[in-house]
Amino acid sequence: MHNIGSYNERLNNFSWKIAEDELGYKPGDVINIGWYCSDRICNMGKGEKLALKWEGLGGKAKNYTYNDLRQLSNTIADFLQKLGIKPEERVCLFLDRIPELYIGFVGILKSGAIAQPLFSAFGEDSLHVRMENSGATAIITQKKHLGKVRKIVATLPNLKHVIIVDDNGKNPLQDKEVAFIMDEAKRVEVFESFPTKAESPSVLHYTSGTTGMPKGVKHVHYSLISQYLSSKWVLDLQDDDIYWCTADPGWVTGTSYGIIGAWACGVTQCVNDIGFSADAWYAFIQKHKITVWYSAPTAIRSLMKAGEEVIKNYDLSSLRHLASVGEPLNAEAVIWGEKVFGLPFHDSYWQTETGSIMISNYPGMKIKPGSMGKPFPGITATILDPDTYEPVPTGQAGLIGIKPGWPSMMRMYWNNQEIYDAKFKNGWYIPGDRSYIDGDGYYWFIGRDDDIINTGGHLVSPFEVESALIEHPAVAESAVVAKPDFVNMEVVKAFVCLKPGFIASPELDLEIMNFIRKRLSPLAMPQEIEFVPSLPKTRSGKIMRRILKAQEWGEEIGDTSSLEDD
Ligand code: PRX
Repeated sequence: MHNIGSYNERLNNFSWKIAEDELGYKPGDVINIGWYCSDRICNMGKGEKLALKWEGLGGKAKNYTYNDLRQLSNTIADFLQKLGIKPEERVCLFLDRIPELYIGFVGILKSGAIAQPLFSAFGEDSLHVRMENSGATAIITQKKHLGKVRKIVATLPNLKHVIIVDDNGKNPLQDKEVAFIMDEAKRVEVFESFPTKAESPSVLHYTSGTTGMPKGVKHVHYSLISQYLSSKWVLDLQDDDIYWCTADPGWVTGTSYGIIGAWACGVTQCVNDIGFSADAWYAFIQKHKITVWYSAPTAIRSLMKAGEEVIKNYDLSSLRHLASVGEPLNAEAVIWGEKVFGLPFHDSYWQTETGSIMISNYPGMKIKPGSMGKPFPGITATILDPDTYEPVPTGQAGLIGIKPGWPSMMRMYWNNQEIYDAKFKNGWYIPGDRSYIDGDGYYWFIGRDDDIINTGGHLVSPFEVESALIEHPAVAESAVVAKPDFVNMEVVKAFVCLKPGFIASPELDLEIMNFIRKRLSPLAMPQEIEFVPSLPKTRSGKIMRRILKAQEWGEEIGDTSSLEDD
């Protein structure tokens, strides 16, 4: 039997109190996500149950029980407190997918500080802009990323501590650096989690904007209510499940469902840090007998590309529920899942800002392949006219609108009230995606309503890439757009005008690509650079990315009446 039972019955009898009661929380109580993910599970008698089964490259493996998770997160929280880190200060996690990332996240929350995850492939510029904006006081990292951190330390006046989790004590440490080896530290058995309340800030994730630098999305401890209930009702997490969320905690799926949801439900979760290959992934499922698998369309399309033959080498019969998030899940991918695993992928739609799943296909409910499904019980969604922000009739395309007020809704863009306020129109929160609802109430994704590029489920801001490109000595100006791609759905393409004296060449092409990879990240690196003599602009001088994008996608260019006269 699925946790959700009947979707329609849940809709009729819904209250967030269901989750509050299950978690033993009453309005006004202390609520600390770190405590809920570890101490509470131990108090339920599950201390010896495995919380984390981890695998790294070269056959490295580590297991942690809930009791280990409780003690080690205590140890980290205690360490942070003793360093002098105060509640609500921002502590960055700049780590590969190693156990310290997952357990460190829980420890930061227990200490009352705000966890700020940073994708470990970020280059120094991406790192700098996010840390400067948040005013982080500490960063937890590992030796291999220390070079990037050291380059920017001096430019971050608020940063007081660089905590290195794998320093063997042999290398001289620089100013502000301190070593902390989690597995060797003296364990702290008792730690009083900071008494955070519902509205106390918990997590700060940065997400891309079209016109400005990344925005810090502030979440609070009360988000647990949504994350817990959706983990139960959408991912169907049950006591004996072995769960695998493939997302990196540098992004919201990796924290909301790769840490909080999983551990608040007390399941065993598996994590690997071995990169992608079809063989390695299937071997991982077989070895750990994964039952619930939450992944993303790009990974699924890569598996489709690898073919069906390879699947025959593995026993994947442990799988019982599959879900997907981050980008449109094509109908073919759902059907392929049914064919090769005997199970469909259940698409789910949400954002960094929403903190938890908003629209989804539920276990036991009929799936229409290619549709995102229906709103989570407790979520009121609709489709709005883009001009009036009034709901449109069934079947008509428009902007998704969600009634504010669910527990995991962002509370603010960090220090940016103006941009936050602009996300609400006529009483609705506007995620910035276009969609329509069919006669049966299913939502169908059409596309984003802005220039943001969704590459492999990761949002990249054209503005951020253009700002970095201009720093290259050869680049006069540029326009960055999405280009279609079978596996990643979209990849980054840059149109570049060179400064006088520079000549386009394959070497320059490569040099510019690497420049972006190092400064921003491999995700933001253009997969293609086209050198052009000029860029299409409006009369007021704004670059019209729309025209370049339409060319890439073979679409009608539309109204060009405001184009610059040449
Ligand atoms: O455009 C939508 C797309 O990803 C955006 C959110 O990205 P991010 O904040 O990075 O969070 C990703 C993981 C929750 C959305 O505004 N998106 C997300 N899920 C889907 C999707 N597009 C189509 N179908 C989905 N299921």
